[in-house]
Amino acid sequence: MPSTMRDTTSDINIFPIFDKMLPRSARESFLRQRGMMIWFTGLSGSGKSTIALGVERELYRRGFLCRILDGDNIRTGINAGLGFSPSDRRENIRRIAEVGKLFVDTGIVTLAAFVSPTNELRQMARDIIGDSDFNEVYVSTPLEECERRDVKGLYARARRGELKEFTGISAPFEPPAAPALSIDTSRQTLEESVRQVVALIDRQQNTIT
Ligand code: ADX
Repeated sequence: MPSTMRDTTSDINIFPIFDKMLPRSARESFLRQRGMMIWFTGLSGSGKSTIALGVERELYRRGFLCRILDGDNIRTGINAGLGFSPSDRRENIRRIAEVGKLFVDTGIVTLAAFVSPTNELRQMARDIIGDSDFNEVYVSTPLEECERRDVKGLYARARRGELKEFTGISAPFEPPAAPALSIDTSRQTLEESVRQVVALIDRQQNTIT
């Protein structure tokens, strides 16, 4: 087989150019901020995306460049075609973490809002993104409240058995053991939740030397 026809997927034909790229620190100096990941986890309807939107708005007001990753821009785009089986959820979170890592490495304050229901999935995301950049925020709104809200009507469908493997009803959700922050949106206002997340981000930004 001619050398030009070698299997291009094997590692041997991949030539990393990372050492020629500008370092992350150059982009962070350019933006005058530190890249970081805020990883929201919680049940469907717990308030992850709503809080992320509020945080984005407040960060924009303060002059930070920020990017939200959530089901609307991921499951309809790069992850279109993935469902909710354990292996599809794993691939969903793996790709989100890889994309999120690129945003963080660009110096952007990145907000990921996904159910990410198990410790294993969140640990995988943490491993991909890097422990020092990964900040886990557990939106701990109880199932009863998420189900009462049922914004998308999915809990009712899951209870009727029309939706299989629905998180909290017929698929597991494991609460994180030691999140950086825990927020129960049934016990505090949106403004308070946004303020807490922004304070967490502020603490990290202030560690820039
Ligand atoms: S994850 O488990 O793979 O992290 P993700 O956050 O991307 O889930 O998507 C969850 C959203 O998809 C829910 O908020 C809900 O709107 C919708 N959804 C549809 N089917 C399911 C299901 N079986 N389990 C959980 N969420 C589902």
